[in-house]
Amino acid sequence: MCGIVGYVGHRPACEVVIGALRRMEYRGYDSAGIALVNDYGTLTVRRRAGRLVNLESALDEAEGTALRGHCGVGHTRWATHGRPTDRNAHPHSDAAVKIAVVHNGIIENHAELRRELEADGVRFGSDTDTEVAVHLVARHYQHGPTAGDFERSVFAVLRRLEGHFTLVFANADEPGKVVAARRSTPLLLGVGDGEMFVSSDVAAFIEYTRDAVELGQDQAVVITAEGYRITDFDGVATDVGWRTFHVDWDLSAAEKGGYEYFMLKEIAEQPSAVANTLVGHFVDGRIVLDEQRLTDQDLREVDKVFIVACGTAYHSGLLAKYAIEHWTRLPVEVELASEFRYRDPVLDRSTLVIAISQSGETADTLEAVRHAKEQKAKVLAICNTNGSQIPRECDAVLYTRAGPEIGVAATKTFLAQIAANYLVGLALAQARGTKYPDEVEREYRELEGIPELVARVLDNIEPVAALARQFALSSTVLFLGRHVGYPVALEGALKLKELAYLHAEGFAAGELKHGPLALIEDGLPVIVVMPSPKSSPVLHAKLVSNIREIQARGAMTIVIAEESDETVRPYADYLVEIPSVSMLFQPLLSTVPLQVFAASLAKAQGYDVDKPRNLAKSVTVE
Ligand code: G6P
Repeated sequence: MCGIVGYVGHRPACEVVIGALRRMEYRGYDSAGIALVNDYGTLTVRRRAGRLVNLESALDEAEGTALRGHCGVGHTRWATHGRPTDRNAHPHSDAAVKIAVVHNGIIENHAELRRELEADGVRFGSDTDTEVAVHLVARHYQHGPTAGDFERSVFAVLRRLEGHFTLVFANADEPGKVVAARRSTPLLLGVGDGEMFVSSDVAAFIEYTRDAVELGQDQAVVITAEGYRITDFDGVATDVGWRTFHVDWDLSAAEKGGYEYFMLKEIAEQPSAVANTLVGHFVDGRIVLDEQRLTDQDLREVDKVFIVACGTAYHSGLLAKYAIEHWTRLPVEVELASEFRYRDPVLDRSTLVIAISQSGETADTLEAVRHAKEQKAKVLAICNTNGSQIPRECDAVLYTRAGPEIGVAATKTFLAQIAANYLVGLALAQARGTKYPDEVEREYRELEGIPELVARVLDNIEPVAALARQFALSSTVLFLGRHVGYPVALEGALKLKELAYLHAEGFAAGELKHGPLALIEDGLPVIVVMPSPKSSPVLHAKLVSNIREIQARGAMTIVIAEESDETVRPYADYLVEIPSVSMLFQPLLSTVPLQVFAASLAKAQGYDVDKPRNLAKSVTVE
């Protein structure tokens, strides 16, 4: 949610910053902006509502020298305070156009600070919460004990801000310096040779360096071309709370690689996303997590599990419930993180809370983790982003190694989350002795075979894309499933809502006759996720009856079923076949056609599949 970048070095800052924004546009695309300090100490700010391309056109028209320089900051926005207009676009600058700021997060005490500044004669140019930060820094830089000291002026302001924020400041008087700080939102430092970067995501600087530093909570960093200094908000240098790491993927992973959309590339990467997530987690006959600060004894003491997540990650959590309850006999509740946090859930030392988040920075999930920790529950994170806030605050972590996901709608990280959830379920079963080691190994081996089967589904996916194009003008699509097919139905509907902006709903098929059946009318497309006739014959028979009920009322049935499933064939207007696997693993295959259906339908409608309207990938506001 909002991508920010700062650069100091030997390259033209304008190119570096625009390139970084292009790779972070998934974080928000309501507006984009850049502030450059040229070598003569002039600050130039350009910002435009809408996609990055609007900013680029504005820069094409701009006068050359102003844009020449080796220091700059940039921003791509997902609007929270103030409409997505030119005037609300970042960077914001002070009245003298000397200091510029970009911001991700929310400054919660902005109204009070604004009143104070307005009483002091400051005139605001935007409706944002952000603008207070730059006027405050300018005030400290002009008057009082910090006058003339850019860094100390920033530190003085940081101490006054409430909320969660990453801020990056540039100053025309110091063309070789950028100052950045974070509280609860991400800030990474890229350490280059004669150049330094700060950004929300390593994708911003991966083209130039893979040496990165992840800043700690309430830390600031001052960068110059030659080096960096990490401090607390008092400006005192610190060597704790931050860590260096090497990024183990390269630029090609963050680029489209020949696909029209990132989402299509990411759908195609699902076999490796699942395979990479499994690698190294079954060692000497035992499931192992990545960061294990919980002992087997801790896991044995667990008497209840809560899973908290948002969006697609929540759907993966719904699937985890089936596996964890089945394998461990522990009661599992799955809850939307935003609901969990505010309803006073019953938690204690023997509760395990599993937080699932691709980004590791979703504010609702983070707050749920914090609440669980306050109640002394044990917290385990499943996350795709190394070094993000949620895993940092948890007692154990399992990383999904799906690689960077740029498309706003989650695809490969969903499959990777399912695999990771199942590893956690098996780790719990192993520690608690509810499964013998050979049973754990059998489940793991079947999981290991999944990537190849996902690849088979993908090899035969073109008919699904063609089918989706046929339904491009539908106004409603319904999804039905039972057992693990139910969360898959929810995820299929979510993908269609997100990408194609049409009314889509997922239902537990058993609920049909308790209401949704009334929605069925002639020609209405209904996608049905069939359970396996072999591993769940009872459910299978029930779902066949449900299909007959909707077909009798005129629905057009699109059925996702196992290759050998002959019984359902007569009731499917369109049949999509997937390989046969155990019940719990079927979602790893049945989700794939639904992702392709949504992406292809959205594409046929001419929508931007990677950047659906009104959404952002990382939602760092509650
Ligand atoms: C946003 C994204 C969804 C994602 C959800 C949770 O709404 O658009 O694709 O599932 O956030 O994100 P997380 O990073 O916590 O998995």
